[in-house]
Amino acid sequence: MPRFAYVNGRFVRHADAAVHIEDRGYQFADGIYEVWSVMGGRLGDAPGHFARLERSLGELRIAAPMSLAALKVVLAETVRRNRLREGLIYLQITRGVAPRDHPFPDPPPLPAIVITAKAVDPAVGEARAAAGIAVITVPESRWARCDIKTIALLPNVLAKQAAREAGAAEAWFVDDLGLVTEGGSSNAWIVDSEGKLRTRDIQANILRGVTRATLLALAADCGLAVEERPFSVAEARSAREAFITGAGALVMPVTRIDGHLVGGGVPGAVAQRLRRLYIDQARSSFDEAGSSPAKPR
Ligand code: PDD
Repeated sequence: MPRFAYVNGRFVRHADAAVHIEDRGYQFADGIYEVWSVMGGRLGDAPGHFARLERSLGELRIAAPMSLAALKVVLAETVRRNRLREGLIYLQITRGVAPRDHPFPDPPPLPAIVITAKAVDPAVGEARAAAGIAVITVPESRWARCDIKTIALLPNVLAKQAAREAGAAEAWFVDDLGLVTEGGSSNAWIVDSEGKLRTRDIQANILRGVTRATLLALAADCGLAVEERPFSVAEARSAREAFITGAGALVMPVTRIDGHLVGGGVPGAVAQRLRRLYIDQARSSFDEAGSSPAKPR
């Protein structure tokens, strides 16, 4: 079945989709993105991703290319045209096309928007979650605005490539104080030696993960002791459990950090329980996207 992408107002075959050579995303990484999991044909954990999308655009002073209502219709149509049941939706918005010059073009061009869909076999994620993944640690090397979900991801690319070359699935950035900030494409968590669930606070220079926020609320509802407090690499290595969260990973147990076994090298009970709870919650908290029969405006 052919895949379809949404590119600046039109659905086109994925293989034929193209953007202009002077798109500022291409030249300056002047844009933002958002990723939703798709579960049962619906956007998982949708409202948090829409809120962050709006915030990222606001922080970079990029105009929204359409209303939120229209965007939801287009996202639903992307899911529908790709017959996507389980997978990911990627959305990217850049400042638009203009002759190359660093400051914002004046007058502002129309923002450029691309949406793509990708099918993912949920069995692959389940198998990885049953085995646990390895992570490596790398020095924090990113800019000071990691709270904005920008497409400028070169440090993340290099960190994740280093992870791959080390046989690991994720790289955790570690700041000058030896504290873990987050992963290359996920937030980092541990169940510490006292049994407390810990993840870095959002005053730190990290992305405010939507999965992270939902999971914090779920964990609190379950009566788990939760602390938004940094942890060191040493604490992570001696933790009872470790795991990562993100729209791609959902909740994924970590069983190895820099080659050292965590939790005896098997996925922890807390991480596994939270994974189930998260998936159930994400499946039920869908927005209208993914199910709307409405036509795009
Ligand atoms: N990444 N931290 C970073 C640096 C990320 O890139 C991501 C998500 C997260 C988790 O955020 P959320 O729970 O909202 O997905 C944390 C996406 C999935 C990506 O880049 O593909």
